[in-house]
Amino acid sequence: MSRKRKDIFFLGKGGVGKSTVSALTAVRLALQGKNVLLVSLDPAHNQSDIFQMEFSGNPREINRNLSVQEIDIDKQIKNYLSAVESQVKRSYSYLTALNLENYFGIIKYSPGIEEYALLAAYSEITGNNGDKDFIIFDMPPTALALKFFGLPKLSLLWLNKLLELRNEILRKREIITKIKFGKREVERDKLINKLSEQVAKYNEVKSAFENNGLTKINLVLNPDELSFSESELIKKKLEEFGITVSGIIVNKYVRGYGLSRIKEKFNSTDLKILPASESPLLGFPALENYIHSNWDNDTSFE
Ligand SMILES: Nc1ncnc2c1ncn2[C@@H]1O[C@H](COP(=O)(O)OP(=O)(O)OP(=O)(O)O)[C@@H](O)[C@H]1O
Ligand SMILES: [Mg+2]
Repeated sequence: MSRKRKDIFFLGKGGVGKSTVSALTAVRLALQGKNVLLVSLDPAHNQSDIFQMEFSGNPREINRNLSVQEIDIDKQIKNYLSAVESQVKRSYSYLTALNLENYFGIIKYSPGIEEYALLAAYSEITGNNGDKDFIIFDMPPTALALKFFGLPKLSLLWLNKLLELRNEILRKREIITKIKFGKREVERDKLINKLSEQVAKYNEVKSAFENNGLTKINLVLNPDELSFSESELIKKKLEEFGITVSGIIVNKYVRGYGLSRIKEKFNSTDLKILPASESPLLGFPALENYIHSNWDNDTSFE
């Protein structure tokens, strides 16, 4: 896979400044002439408030280099459900009356469904934006963000087990039908094909997450104990999924707060300090101003 685009994620505890740092990064790169898409994957969006503009599920161009989009989680869940529904109907033809949409109000609260919808949005957005230099992802708070990053590995675990079981069933029943296309032999079990398709899809996402040349995962924290220990936890969990944290951003930094402990804990990770702003970081001019006075030419987070 050769692509020039980089995807940058910002995650961390609630309220540490994920959305603000995402917006600052997007504006900064756009000011450098890069072609940037800023995406909020947090169902409780903040970007409209930060830019003081209306955003929606479709990207809105702020200027020649920068577009912003806040994913519509309900729409993503509906798309996901209708894909599941048509798959179920194709496999079980007697279920013609199945209509999940009628139960949407309840089903959308099903455990696990949000992270599937977020991952579907991620795949769609990364698939549609090959022309961008950067996609910046403003993430939801920790619990949902971790489920999102863990989903490919978890799904692969299940899918590979299901594939094994299906193969076992097919072997036992001796119903593997092989037909010859020229010299090639083709297996005709539909379920195997579907499962293999899913495995390929999740493998692609998983390797994108693990490729820290193309995917930068940054943790935002504040100079306080709670956000610090939550960041340690996030880093540890991500490592369990095979994902490396690229950078730590100490946001809302106030002079005098000792950084030695943070440096020690995250010693292999780049550290960036963003001072607490005295004026509100709202609206494009305020973001631009903050960048000019506080952001050096450090590019390790991109
Ligand atoms: N460097 C900064 N200086 C001053 N205020 C800041 C800074 N960064 C963020 N803030 C303020 O802190 C508050 C929370 O920031 P923000 O919404 O970006 O956090 P978040 O991590 O995205 O929150 P949530 O978890 O709710 O999505 C906002 O009022 C924002 O303006
Ligand atoms: Mg936010």
